[in-house]
Amino acid sequence: MSKQNIFNNDTFFEGYKALRAGETNYNDLLEQPAMAKLLPDLTDKTVLDLGCGYGHNCIDFVHRGAKRIVGIDISEKMLAVAKSESAHEKIEYLNMSMTDIAALGETFDFIYSSLAFHYVKDFDSFAKTMFAVLNNGGQLLFSQEHPIITATVDGNGHFNKDENGNRVSYTFSDYNRPGERKVHWYVDGVIKYHRTFSDVINALSKAGFVIEEICEPTPEEWAIEKLPTIVKEYIKPNFLIVKARK
Ligand SMILES: C[S@@+](CC[C@H](N)C(=O)[O-])C[C@H]1O[C@@H](n2cnc3c(N)ncnc32)[C@H](O)[C@@H]1O
Repeated sequence: MSKQNIFNNDTFFEGYKALRAGETNYNDLLEQPAMAKLLPDLTDKTVLDLGCGYGHNCIDFVHRGAKRIVGIDISEKMLAVAKSESAHEKIEYLNMSMTDIAALGETFDFIYSSLAFHYVKDFDSFAKTMFAVLNNGGQLLFSQEHPIITATVDGNGHFNKDENGNRVSYTFSDYNRPGERKVHWYVDGVIKYHRTFSDVINALSKAGFVIEEICEPTPEEWAIEKLPTIVKEYIKPNFLIVKARK
């Protein structure tokens, strides 16, 4: 099956744009702050951002002293935003699938990816590809939807409430059935791939990576003040973040 390019779909693109423009999205309140804490020193480093989207992280890497950044995205529409909002002479944006990065013929000190790896079908093979594209001693930092979120086949994991309407638990299923998931997110049929926690870690380990840190972020006080319902992250995590080294 060819790779899905759902961010190029007009309805999806507009829905996602509105989500990211809002003040209380989970990226800004939870995932990005946790990722920022795990960033290595990027002074004079070469960086590859996989599924770079609007390129906001690429610009951040310039400010953190990186000497060259390559942002890869399969969606021309996302890259068009990147090129207008996040252009810089140290950044090159390339329209290609992240699974094809071996074709770049270049190696990097740091590979970064925010919330894109759950769109990759074969993570075993992709982990090996990333390992080959990293310089020795180089690091990989990525976030993805947490396996608890991707697990349920019909996309209907849900919270359960007590008699006062408080969320007390979360029901999900199909955890140990890895594979394709089709969910409704702005449009029907958005394809993601569910992997168990052990699938993710074993793929990286078999490729040769040493795991340095794993994070399942919880909201800080300032985030709870902005969006009180985000305390539900204490019931189950939305994101899995992994930092690894070659
Ligand atoms: C949820 S967005 C995240 C964008 C950006 N990393 C951020 O955090 O703002 C996921 C991005 O991954 C891209 N993407 C999905 N599958 C891809 C693939 N196979 N190769 C490259 N990019 C891909 C999408 O087009 C989209 O821009």
